[in-house]
Amino acid sequence: MKTLKWIGISVLSLLIILAALVFFQVKKAEKIINRTVKIDPVPLTIPNDSLSLVIGKKWVTTLCADCHGDDLGGKMFIDDPGLGKLYAPNITRGEGGLAYYTDKDWLAALRHGVSPTGKPLLIMPSKSFAQMRAEDIGGIIAYLKTTAPPVDKPNEEAGFKAFGKLLIAMGAFDHEFGVNLIDHEAPIPANTIDQTPKDRGKYLASVIGCESCHGKNLAGKIPTDPNSPPAPNLTPGGNLGAWSYDDFTAFIATGVTKEGKTVDNNFMPFKAYGKLPEEELVAVFDYLKSLEPMESAL
Ligand code: HEC
Ligand code: HEC
Repeated sequence: MKTLKWIGISVLSLLIILAALVFFQVKKAEKIINRTVKIDPVPLTIPNDSLSLVIGKKWVTTLCADCHGDDLGGKMFIDDPGLGKLYAPNITRGEGGLAYYTDKDWLAALRHGVSPTGKPLLIMPSKSFAQMRAEDIGGIIAYLKTTAPPVDKPNEEAGFKAFGKLLIAMGAFDHEFGVNLIDHEAPIPANTIDQTPKDRGKYLASVIGCESCHGKNLAGKIPTDPNSPPAPNLTPGGNLGAWSYDDFTAFIATGVTKEGKTVDNNFMPFKAYGKLPEEELVAVFDYLKSLEPMESAL
């Protein structure tokens, strides 16, 4: 009887300790989510010529639409009972969108990961966009400000649930905390003519964000989102060592790898990459093929 009582007391104490731990982690996450930061964005004169608008449209279609919706009017792109609801807001000039944004606001959000109210953007891949050259980031802002069709649509309520908050508190997210990882003083990379497709591919792999999911050296990485499969090794040390360019484009077109695996577009956004111009896909592939073969980091 006595032992039973002690077991009961121990279990209860453990549960209380656990509950307290969870409580403090959730509080910690709420602090991270609700904090405000002050950023003075590195300035850029936003262009308005037609070439910039073409460049901007290309990037917005491939890089933003996947999360913010095909019409950019906002999209609930994750609705998970544990993690919570993640809503990518309306970024058009329409009602409910960002007509009020100044150039400074655009630069702060895209390059520094901070909203005009000083809230860190947790999910926006701003760390990748911060590496964009002036023509690319300028083109994106120009296109969204002046040309992308306005959509009138209010944003939906969203937010992290307890499990999502636990992950945040434990620092499991990484590019989501872009604001901490970005060098806020770094100048905007100047426009450069890439000498070879490989150079172009290296640049594309960083700004598109292959590295943020597949790891800095592209040798593979366990993603933050616990629902996502691991992002495999993309160096010739992995499956790609045996892929031809046709295998690569077939994968980007269908989401089925040479080895016959079907990937989920929510975790590996191949549909968006299918909208890239052919020469950019060639450049990315050439770059991957040129990498030092590495063992998988998984
Ligand atoms: C991986 C999904 C994802 C991608 C890709 C993405 N965004 Fe976002 N974006 C979000 C989410 C989610 C938010 C809401 C804030 C947060 O939690 O990060 C957001 C917020 C924003 C905001 C801030 C709006 C505000 O409340 O002030 C802007 C501006 C923005 N995105 C623009 C863009 C542009 C432009 C692109 C493409 C170049 C892009 N986003 C690509 C997910 C994404
Ligand atoms: C949001 C994270 C994310 C981004 C960004 C991303 N990937 Fe992936 N990728 C994944 C995940 C996760 C898988 C594995 C999917 C699965 O197993 O179902 C994957 C699988 C792949 C595969 C299949 C490899 C194999 O051995 O089966 C290739 C090729 C690939 N990605 C290339 C790229 C390239 C190139 C880029 C940049 C242009 C890129 N990925 C950007 C997450 C990402």
